[in-house]
Amino acid sequence: CTTSSSISESFLQCFSSHIHSKSTSKIILTRKSSSYSSVLHSSIQNLRFLNTSTPQPEAIITPFRYSHVQAAVICSKKEGIQIRTRSGGHDYEGLSYISKSPFIIIDLFKLRSIDIDIKNERAWVESGVTLGELYYAIAQKSKVYGFPAGICPTIGVGGHISGGGFGTLFRKYGLAADNVRDAKIVDVNGRVLDRKSMGEELFWAIRGGGGSSFGVILAWKLELVPVPPSVTVYTESKTIQQGATKLISRWQAIADRIPEGNFLRLVIQGANGDGTNGGKTIQVIFNFLFLQTVEKLLPWMKENFPELSVEQTKFAEMSWIESVLSMADIQRNKTEVLLQRTQQSKRFFKAKSDYVTKPISEAGLEGLWHIMLQLDTSLLILSPFGGRMSEISDSETPFPHRKGNLYEIQYYVSWDDDKETEKHISWTRRVYGYMAAYVSKSPRAAYLNYRDMDLGMNKDTNTSYKQASLWGLSYFKNNFRRLAQVKTLVDPGNFFRNEQSIPVLPYGE
Ligand code: FDA
Repeated sequence: CTTSSSISESFLQCFSSHIHSKSTSKIILTRKSSSYSSVLHSSIQNLRFLNTSTPQPEAIITPFRYSHVQAAVICSKKEGIQIRTRSGGHDYEGLSYISKSPFIIIDLFKLRSIDIDIKNERAWVESGVTLGELYYAIAQKSKVYGFPAGICPTIGVGGHISGGGFGTLFRKYGLAADNVRDAKIVDVNGRVLDRKSMGEELFWAIRGGGGSSFGVILAWKLELVPVPPSVTVYTESKTIQQGATKLISRWQAIADRIPEGNFLRLVIQGANGDGTNGGKTIQVIFNFLFLQTVEKLLPWMKENFPELSVEQTKFAEMSWIESVLSMADIQRNKTEVLLQRTQQSKRFFKAKSDYVTKPISEAGLEGLWHIMLQLDTSLLILSPFGGRMSEISDSETPFPHRKGNLYEIQYYVSWDDDKETEKHISWTRRVYGYMAAYVSKSPRAAYLNYRDMDLGMNKDTNTSYKQASLWGLSYFKNNFRRLAQVKTLVDPGNFFRNEQSIPVLPYGE
């Protein structure tokens, strides 16, 4: 086992012998390399993990060929060094670049090819590609195709798709993971496998079960989906004094049943108010994406949300790629911003997630406002399910949150000063405690891509299935055991592990 503060000579020798080259300095960044820190920090999105006490890797491998990834896996295993695989670095708890044991990072940012085939509605996309780069590349080829994945353009496809991945098109087409047709992965023995050679069980596991427990995903083959030439973004906000609580009740009754895969998202946040509550209030932003023209949807809006304004200025018709920018809060004519790989401003943040299966009463919402008013930066994002999500069975992929869910809530807080960390994290626990009465139970479900270490952690290499069930059943429900079976089959020595990796089952279980 390596204990030195830098990568061992034997690792370097092993690596160069596997890639048949002595010149590894462009691929392996050791702590002495001038670009080590800038590469390490470049895709860290959460400032909670960008400080001097965060454990740092012994080296960062920056592969630009698949053989580099193979060599990294083979040599780390041989030397007893752990691996952290990073694509876009958005992991909420930093699991793609932090480990308590000696480790290296395989950072896939140089594996970025995108091969779009509009005729066959397919694309091969390497793991280091961001969603923004993918959406941009599709739009360059066609205005009437898109891909159903997340809203934030800097997310990496490697982590995102392996954890599920949802955004504005998921009520129409399902998750990003539902639209994967093939994949390439480096397994624990350093082999490059595709769907055929990895087999259907491993192919099932990596589409929602999180890639990091099973290998290093190199690329995805995606099914592109048709989008209308013109879609409509609607944005309106109301405070609770303006009747927002009643409007949320109405929204809860219909948001998962709206036809055409339309996406009616709510963003709820603290705001300056009218003097009551110490000058603060709660503001609800109705942030909708309709896959229709304004003309077609107006009658529906008037009938279902008569209290919401239907002035023309609230609606904006645009191409699908412009809606990607608009929903991500980027100016519509700045398509090139999609190619920026890091967020414009980075902050400290903590998030948690819940699934709502029965509408929350107005009294329940009022209690929630009370807790939100205790913290200026409190933010909730409510994403309606239903549509295509209810048609796909819970076991089709490891992502089990399908039929029966009205919407998902993300509780999200961000801040700028490390001294504020405790206060903000405590707030997320308080709101989560309050919401227990109103959300899914037994297990209380959570979304893997909104990773939350409060749910539980693997203590060591041999964490049992029972111990891991603490967090595993929340993310995967009845699919957790099957994930553990796949893990036992493909990585019985538990080489690919982290604080929330899938456990190996004891012999015979
Ligand atoms: P990162 O590189 O940190 O990886 C995340 C996890 O996947 C880690 O465990 C990592 O080891 C593993 N992994 C990464 N690449 C791998 C590979 N090639 N092979 C094997 N394992 C790999 N989600 C969503 O569904 N919809 C949304 O709209 C958003 N929006 C959003 C906004 C912001 C600002 C953030 C920070 C996050 C989101 N997310 C989201 C959550 C996002 O989907 C989630 O964090 C993904 O795991 C991020 O994938 P990255 O590759 O960027 O992360």
